[in-house]
Amino acid sequence: MTSKRSIGTSLAMPLLLLALAGCETTADNAPYEPNASMGMLIARDSCRSCHEISSSRESPNADAPPFREIINRPGMSDEQLAAWLRDAHNYPIEMGVHLEPHQVDSLVAYMLRLRSGDAPSGE
Ligand code: HEC
Repeated sequence: MTSKRSIGTSLAMPLLLLALAGCETTADNAPYEPNASMGMLIARDSCRSCHEISSSRESPNADAPPFREIINRPGMSDEQLAAWLRDAHNYPIEMGVHLEPHQVDSLVAYMLRLRSGDAPSGE
C-alpha cells in the first residue's frame, strides 16, 4: 500500500518539471520579466544620451523632452506611452533605437515612477 503512494510521487515530479520547462520556452525569448529596474538600465543605456531620464535637470539634447516631463503630461497614460514606443515609426530619425516589446514594458514601468501627479512632491 505504501508503495502506491511513492509511485504517485515519482510520476508527479517529472510532470511538474515538464510543466516548468514548458513555461520557460513560451516566455517569448525574454531573458527577464519587464520591470522598472530593468527599464532604468535600458534608459541609461539607450536614452540618456539625449533625454534626462531621472532628475529635474534639462535633457542633454534640448529637443528631447526629459522623461519626467513626458510622463507628467496631462492625459498621458501608460498605454499611450507604450503604444508610441512600440511603433518605431513614431521615433524621430535621430533616436535610432530598437526596442523589444518587453523592453518597452520595462521602460514604461520605469517612467511611471517619475510621475508626480499622485505625489505632492513633484517639482
Ligand atoms: C539620439 C537622441 C535620442 C535618443 C538616444 C532617444 N531619444 Fe527619444 N526623442 C529624441 C528627440 C529629439 C525627441 C523629440 C522628437 C520630437 O518632438 O519631434 C524624442 C522624443 C521621444 C518621445 C516622445 C516625446 C513626446 O514629445 O511625445 C519619447 C516617449 C521618447 N523620445 C522616448 C525615448 C526612449 C524610451 C529612448 C531610449 C530607449 C529614447 N527616446 C532615446 C531623441 C532621442
